[in-house]
Amino acid sequence: SKLAKFNGKRVLITAGGTREYIDPVRYISNKSSGKMGYALAKVAQKNGASVTLISANVTLPVPQGVKLVQVETVAELSKAVHSYFATTDVFIMAAAVSDYRPIHFVDHKIKKLAESSNLTIKLEETPDILKSLKQVRTNQIVVGFAAETNDLLDNAKKKLDSKGADIIVANDVSQADIGFGSEDNAITILQHDTENIKVSKANKRIIARKILEVIAKRFT
Ligand code: PMT
Repeated sequence: SKLAKFNGKRVLITAGGTREYIDPVRYISNKSSGKMGYALAKVAQKNGASVTLISANVTLPVPQGVKLVQVETVAELSKAVHSYFATTDVFIMAAAVSDYRPIHFVDHKIKKLAESSNLTIKLEETPDILKSLKQVRTNQIVVGFAAETNDLLDNAKKKLDSKGADIIVANDVSQADIGFGSEDNAITILQHDTENIKVSKANKRIIARKILEVIAKRFT
């Protein structure tokens, strides 16, 4: 198998969607189900890799033999990634991370305001976890995703150049049958000195296998 090279490799994967709390019972999040990241974890594990899965708010069954680390927020995700990154051979950032979070956390349930007034929540930027790895990277293979609703390849190329990743997996998240939440995905794999690789719509298990095949080619 093309994935035999994963035997004995340490693979760190993030999956799911972060939650940024507004008050104790409300948060900002996204539609990630974790299916893409969990499929990657399952296929890597089945091919002999030692897999750590950092999982943000996912309700899927944990693939057998995979070490699970549960997180909720961007801050927790960042802390977990940084604590495992140094000892991994491959890092895959499939989690959907909130780009903004409320500046202030209100420590009680926010009450409804007087009739017909609007409530404003101010947001601040979150740290970019993928980018932050540039500073601490040694010889890990680093893989990011690009979730786009428009100008897919242009935006993904920008992420390949700015995020310090070896590989960016671009997926169009404007269609309901692929991307967030669905069983299937359709991707284009971007690398710095190679032609783009297009993988047409297929089950996330098949998509995961293709992504891992491209990673395996980079093993020395
Ligand atoms: O979970 P599923 O329902 O199966 O859906 C899969 C998916 C659509 C969530 C997945 O395939 C995907 O595209 N994941 C990345 C989502 C995302 O946050 O994309 P982005 O284009 O906004 O970010 C680009 C890259 O930077 C991503 O690898 C992201 O994890 C990372 N990032 C983003 C923001 C941030 N503050 N820190 C980051 O590290």
